[in-house]
Amino acid sequence: MRNVIVTGGAGFIGSNFILYELEKDPDIFIVNVDKLTYAGNLENLKSVENDPRYVFRQLDICDAEEIAKLFDEYDIDTVINFAAESHVDRSIEDPMVFIRTNVLGTATLLNIAKEKWSDGKGGFKEGVRYLQVSTDEVYGSLGPEGFFREDTPLDPHSPYSASKASADMITKSYYDTFKMPINITRCSNNYGPYQFPEKLIPLMINNCLNHKDLPVYGDGLQIRDWLYVEDHCKAIDLVVRNGVVGQVYNIGGHNERTNLFIVNSVISYIHDHKDESVDDGLIKHVTDRKGHDRRYGIDPQKIKDALGWYPETPFERGIVKTIEWYLNNEEWIEDVVSGEYQKYYESMYDNR
Ligand code: NAD
Ligand code: TYD
Repeated sequence: MRNVIVTGGAGFIGSNFILYELEKDPDIFIVNVDKLTYAGNLENLKSVENDPRYVFRQLDICDAEEIAKLFDEYDIDTVINFAAESHVDRSIEDPMVFIRTNVLGTATLLNIAKEKWSDGKGGFKEGVRYLQVSTDEVYGSLGPEGFFREDTPLDPHSPYSASKASADMITKSYYDTFKMPINITRCSNNYGPYQFPEKLIPLMINNCLNHKDLPVYGDGLQIRDWLYVEDHCKAIDLVVRNGVVGQVYNIGGHNERTNLFIVNSVISYIHDHKDESVDDGLIKHVTDRKGHDRRYGIDPQKIKDALGWYPETPFERGIVKTIEWYLNNEEWIEDVVSGEYQKYYESMYDNR
């Protein structure tokens, strides 16, 4: 890959991915295509904004005309689609924007890539690749046993996961029908720097720092399979460069934890290193999320065997790095929790 469109590059995982690639690959050129919704933040990319291998374009992935121009302007050979509405709770409140960006936006990108990458003989130019960044949530919810494999039937429950599953199916159809060189990656819950504080870990860190209640949905015994974001970025890099065309790869680190375990990990680190008055008395069990998936757990054997990937960051190290990043970047948090976030927080959590 040489000239790459990274969509959603101002978001949590996209920013981490761009920083990772610019550090790693001297020959890469990245066009970051991001609409800058509430979740997009160019501060994340301040350190690379003048790098000649990087440009930013504020665009909606549904804007076919403008995106098509980028393919010509930059001779694009790779698209990695991170752009999405990504928060389950918001999808319960307002599903339509999820359908638009996640379904229509993905279809728009695929369709432009198909046209621009045509070799004029019914096939595709050499070396082109489209990677759809997906989620384990498309598989639905597990009982106490078993793991999601790539051939586990899709059974999404939230409007978010249903929109991501739709995007996966459309992506797959471009391989099945046109033999377009695509991959789909399905990753478990990420954590690390630059994550917007609507998601569990940064929300709990921010609330601890502000001595606010820690809202745990229901009994807090739901299980998520946590992966440090840099390990996800490394997996995407391997798939987009070396993945077998048409294949789906699950990405996860066998790191299943209950939500209460996660919240208590945040509390105890902040108690010991920042503020002794933070303790589990701040935990408040609140009304459960509608349709809440009970357990996610990924079987990552395929990507380990095929591409030699493994999660390098144990949870105990990753969570410390993450909390310390937020402690050292209080200005970043203050900036993102001003304005819209306050209204979001009140509507989601007041009287819950
Ligand atoms: P995020 O919400 O932090 O960032 C999304 C980015 O997409 C933002 O910068 C936003 O401005 C941009 N965006 C939204 N709508 C857009 C549009 N119409 N056009 C252009 N840009 C738009 O999300 P994230 O956590 O970084 O997730 C990135 C991808 O990874 C998503 O596709 C998500 O489904 C997937 N994923 C996330 C996780 C996780 O734990 N965060 C796990 C598995 C998969
Ligand atoms: P989240 O970070 O929203 O990711 P996802 O829903 O995509 O897995 O939530 C992770 C888990 O934490 C999920 O089981 C819901 C729960 N949760 C809470 O208990 N309280 C909260 O305030 C939030 C945001 C999440």
